[in-house]
Amino acid sequence: MKNFSLDFFRGKRVFVTGHTGFKGSWLCRILINAGAVVTGYSLPPPTDPNLFSIAGLEGSMTSIIGDIRDRDKLMQAFCQTQPGMVFHLAAQPIVRDSYKDPAGTYETNVMGTVNLLECVRTLQAPVRSVVIITTDKVYENKNWAWGYRENDPLDGRDPYSNSKSCAELVTHSYVQSFFADSPVAVSTVRAGNVIGGGDFAHDRIIPDCVRAAQAGYPIIVRNPFSVRPYQHVLEALFAYLLVAQHQYENRNLAGWYNVGPDDSSCVTTGELVDMFCRAWGDGLTWENHAEPNAPHEDIFLKLDCSKLKKAFDWNPIWDVKTAVEKTVEWTKSWLKGMKPGGIGDQQFLEYIQKMI
Ligand SMILES: NC(=O)c1ccc[n+]([C@@H]2O[C@H](COP(=O)([O-])OP(=O)(O)OC[C@H]3O[C@@H](n4cnc5c(N)ncnc54)[C@H](O)[C@@H]3O)[C@@H](O)[C@H]2O)c1
Repeated sequence: MKNFSLDFFRGKRVFVTGHTGFKGSWLCRILINAGAVVTGYSLPPPTDPNLFSIAGLEGSMTSIIGDIRDRDKLMQAFCQTQPGMVFHLAAQPIVRDSYKDPAGTYETNVMGTVNLLECVRTLQAPVRSVVIITTDKVYENKNWAWGYRENDPLDGRDPYSNSKSCAELVTHSYVQSFFADSPVAVSTVRAGNVIGGGDFAHDRIIPDCVRAAQAGYPIIVRNPFSVRPYQHVLEALFAYLLVAQHQYENRNLAGWYNVGPDDSSCVTTGELVDMFCRAWGDGLTWENHAEPNAPHEDIFLKLDCSKLKKAFDWNPIWDVKTAVEKTVEWTKSWLKGMKPGGIGDQQFLEYIQKMI
């Protein structure tokens, strides 16, 4: 990986939205371990249990509880922090919830992004790097075998995916309209489905597996034949950090980047759950409960990550089987009562040793 160093983040003032969520908590833990001065802005943790508490983040960063739709409060937090770097993760991220509350999903995911970019536009210096986290689902899905490239049409179908396509378009407009001649570098990063220890969301397959395993029941799988680009959460987070560091140093590297696994890790949900059952042991099994009237979810989704690979010499480190094993390892350690950080910090060290 090209010139990546966690030392780069030491002493940097970093603003993270969505810091109480699954990915946000992992990201803050990494940034804090790297010596960054981290401020988070988001609603309270979305689940109980949650990684924000398990990882002991409350005492090691400034945590501001606020709604991303509240532009005045966000602006106040932003001005107080004077960040040099921003990661925008706050979102309503569940596809099925977006069918139940499309308007709320658009308000959070689209206007939340507008509000964040308004803060950057207003404050400008000292902000040097902004990474907007969207998703692999931003593309118009043609259910074909090829991976989507960054210049393919954006037009997610369900309200969640579509709200993230809109967040991309909003960002593209701000970049061209307000940041073209400024020192602020803004990128979007479109990650595949991430898995890892500490995800307790409802309606996500790995948390469903963990809940079934804990309860001693078979795992219920609704869409066993959907193919998804599954990757460990650290894969996506290190791509965010990589883009952030490089665009901070050279704003010409800002752009729109996919981050996903190699083709061999794009597996069906059934195959993923098979891996989970093998890694968990204890005779865990799963059952196919396809719902005939379930809301639409795309069958096939892969990403072409050539751009990220070429720009930064980036490559995935852990394949999907390893990602599942690391998730099981984390979960079993947590169930035994681990210390804050614990196995998460250990996995992070293992990952970074392989990466550099
Ligand atoms: N988990 C995945 O597989 C995946 C894949 C691709 C992209 N993403 C994106 O990554 C980001 C983080 O996802 P996650 O998996 O950690 O989700 P999560 O639900 O665990 O975390 C979401 C975070 O957003 C915050 N939030 C929600 N609504 C808010 C609001 N109105 N105001 C302020 N904060 C609000 C929550 O409090 C939480 O901190 C999201 O933008 C999501 O779309 C996730």
